[in-house]
Amino acid sequence: MKDILEQLEARRTVARAGGGEKRVAAQHAKGKLTARERIELLLDEGSFEEFDMFVAHRCTDFGMEAERPPGDGVVTGWGTVNGRMVYVFAQDFTVFGGSVSETHGAKICKIMDMAIQNGAPVIGINDSGGARIQEGVGSLAAYGEVFQRNVLASGVVPQISLIMGPCAGGAVYSPAMTDFIFMVKDSSYMFVTGPDVVKTVTNEQVTAEELGGAGTHTRKSSVADGAYENDVEALAETRRLIDFLPLNNREKAPVRPFFDDPARVEMSLDSLVPDNPNQPYDMKELIAKVADEGDFFELQKDFAANIITGFIRLEGQSVGVVANQPMVLAGCLDIDSSRKAARFVRFCDAFEIPILTLVDVPGFLPGTGQEYGGVIKHGAKLLFAYAEATVPKVTVLTRKTYGGAYVVMSSKHLRGDFNYAWPTAEVAVMGAKGAVEILYRSELGEPEKIAQRVKDYEDRFANPFVAAEKGFIDEVIMPHSTRRRVARAFAALRSKKLANPWKKHDNIPL
Ligand code: HXC
Repeated sequence: MKDILEQLEARRTVARAGGGEKRVAAQHAKGKLTARERIELLLDEGSFEEFDMFVAHRCTDFGMEAERPPGDGVVTGWGTVNGRMVYVFAQDFTVFGGSVSETHGAKICKIMDMAIQNGAPVIGINDSGGARIQEGVGSLAAYGEVFQRNVLASGVVPQISLIMGPCAGGAVYSPAMTDFIFMVKDSSYMFVTGPDVVKTVTNEQVTAEELGGAGTHTRKSSVADGAYENDVEALAETRRLIDFLPLNNREKAPVRPFFDDPARVEMSLDSLVPDNPNQPYDMKELIAKVADEGDFFELQKDFAANIITGFIRLEGQSVGVVANQPMVLAGCLDIDSSRKAARFVRFCDAFEIPILTLVDVPGFLPGTGQEYGGVIKHGAKLLFAYAEATVPKVTVLTRKTYGGAYVVMSSKHLRGDFNYAWPTAEVAVMGAKGAVEILYRSELGEPEKIAQRVKDYEDRFANPFVAAEKGFIDEVIMPHSTRRRVARAFAALRSKKLANPWKKHDNIPL
């Protein structure tokens, strides 16, 4: 018996060694952790339960039968993050470069199937040379099986991808279909075709980092939601994110202990909006002052910064925040900000996370660049996302909200549950100057007359009361009491029930 136990332990030791000391050292030399080290940091201490440690590939081409390392280049299993269950796979770059074989893919599929069935998130740690070159089409089939499960899991369990090494070719499409992608600066990249192919086809000379590094994907392409300094930080932030999320679409997000008075008054908010309507202010200050303990988990912070997206807690409960940022492009809506916010709103709605919308928006950004780029379709994504969302929706207008953008930003007309305005809010078709220039074109040569017209228009519309008279604003609130009002509103909506008409699925303008 003792012999058998020892044999098992010996086999485990071999499996845990991955591709061996030399390759592990090479991995460390690149500033990267190994698959097992990553899992250890991601999960609660001692909580990891491994599956398929002894699975080996079945390839017999290119002498592969002589080399069948147990585990086949991916570590899979489940464990807990702050006591809550998650499934995880981590590709082991030290074994065949983490490349995907039929059996490697089957291991990933096994935990994805369990995650969907048992209702727990999937966290995928990607560090792979892509399709196992020796296996050919079997490897492509394995990817296809993973893709199919990504889609079936979408909206059922949260899926998070960590990119911690190469992720190239068709392999990028698995992370692309997950809910959140985090990358590590300088050691991870994602692209459909690498620099060499790019050079051949388009004659562009570009490094892997420029083409698909963390900076590119968090600033330019918006493929990734966050970029971190190293593996340790990325894993710690993933744990933080998971704390905001429900385990699946039938459960509520966890309620965390909170030590912040929900009725906390913030007198400084009374002077947040400057007297000069053209002067910006930082919407993040409002978010921090509303949130429990000022804690805000921001997503896509370096992309389309004219809109802010992320999670806070109110009375310990997760809330998704969407907020215009007057500091960037005056907080206008455009193609990028609409896409960014629409995807976030849909995630929140899919997983029953209530949405707080903070509005100060001058409208949609004008210009040929926007029109040719399809701002109509992209803006419609955000409109569509808000309109279909059935989660509790609380909206606060802080300053201007004009035109279509007013309707889009979780207005009463899109089933906003609580629509509050600060006294500084203006709800109108457009700003006073623009309105007067259209209505009184014939008087444009007479500045004094025009100034009076602008003042008249402002007196009539530069306030929240016209909208409040119509019931489009439920209440004009004091800025200093925003946290209390918003927290009470969400508390009042805890058992909200609202369903959309039956359909196979909608047809959001993609
Ligand atoms: C088999 C692979 C491999 C692969 C790497 N290795 N990629 N083995 N299949 N795809 C092995 C290497 O042979 C090497 O083995 C070890 O992993 C480490 O690789 P190195 O090249 O030494 O590492 P590095 O210099 O860091 O370069 C990493 C790399 C490079 C950039 C990823 O290995 C590379 O270009 N690999 C090929 C990438 C590729 O073209 N993949 C197919 C893409 S198409 P030893 O034994 O020496 O340690 C694709 C389609 C997906 O993925 C389609 C989905 C639908």
